Amino acid sequence: MNPITTNGVKQLVLASGRAHPDLAAAVARELGCELLNTTAYDFANGEIYVRFAESVRGADAFVLQSHAAPVNHAIMEHLLMVDALKRASAHQITAILPFYGYARQDKKHRGREPISARLLADLFDAAGADRLMSVDLHAAQTQGFFNGPVDHLWAMPILTDYVRTRVDLSNLAVVSPDAGRIRVAEKWAAKLGDCPLAFVHKTRDVTRPNMSVANRVVGDVQGRDCVLVDDLIDTGGTIAEAVKVLLREGARGVIVAATHGVLSDPAPQRLQDCGAREVIVTDTLPIPTEKRFERLTVLSIAPLIARAIREVFDDGSVTSLFDGNS
Ligand code: R5P
Repeated sequence: MNPITTNGVKQLVLASGRAHPDLAAAVARELGCELLNTTAYDFANGEIYVRFAESVRGADAFVLQSHAAPVNHAIMEHLLMVDALKRASAHQITAILPFYGYARQDKKHRGREPISARLLADLFDAAGADRLMSVDLHAAQTQGFFNGPVDHLWAMPILTDYVRTRVDLSNLAVVSPDAGRIRVAEKWAAKLGDCPLAFVHKTRDVTRPNMSVANRVVGDVQGRDCVLVDDLIDTGGTIAEAVKVLLREGARGVIVAATHGVLSDPAPQRLQDCGAREVIVTDTLPIPTEKRFERLTVLSIAPLIARAIREVFDDGSVTSLFDGNS
């Protein structure tokens, strides 16, 4: 055989939607590249137009859009960018969803509900994405909704490295705000030196959005510094209730660590007033000035996303970024 080869070199392009340009710029800086020159605007009736001003033919294209509010707009723009890359003959398209919209709707709680997280994966498949990359999915098994590779990144190393500098590890308890996240809290506890675990027994009214009640703490938190860990903080109801119940049950202090700061109203006020010493999130979502409050710390997720992009581009190992866990 005398195969025809190309003398072209592999090319990485990074594109961004309009939902979180600061994160995209930070990832580009980490990678040492420029963002793909892109035009995007809305028509009068709300439809979205996107176009890449440079050729992407044969490129490994990474298109980053966090599904920030207005979530449906961000998702639609993301899908249109993937479609545009496919039609422009990109070689491989990775959709990066630092925050995966609708991830919480990953199962039917009651009859006649959609499984929205699955639909989203199907939409990315239909648009032409070869691969997804996301950070701390609400449930890890959501990876299986997409019929292709999914790089599931963990913010935990970034959060635990910071938390270590803020607490007395010898007096620490890791607390899950509900029974469903105990597995994640276990990983945190292992990472922070096998400290004790507790969880808040929470009940939810499934007929009302964002409504939950923290009933009591299961586990010993008396006199302990607690780190309360969750994947996301939306209206802050879950976390504020959990902090109050922990303090009521004798915790010495509480700090909160969550990956995604959705921070819908009235989260900033609730979190500032709930009694937590500090609330730590990453910037998978944009956090504008009006949502920031005194006790909030925002850590950058850009270095992790940039390293994962590099591993994918180089056919390296994303799992190696997390000590073999994924
Ligand atoms: C629930 O299962 C999630 O992990 C979060 O705890 C919840 O979605 C946060 O919502 P909110 O901040 O509105 O209570």
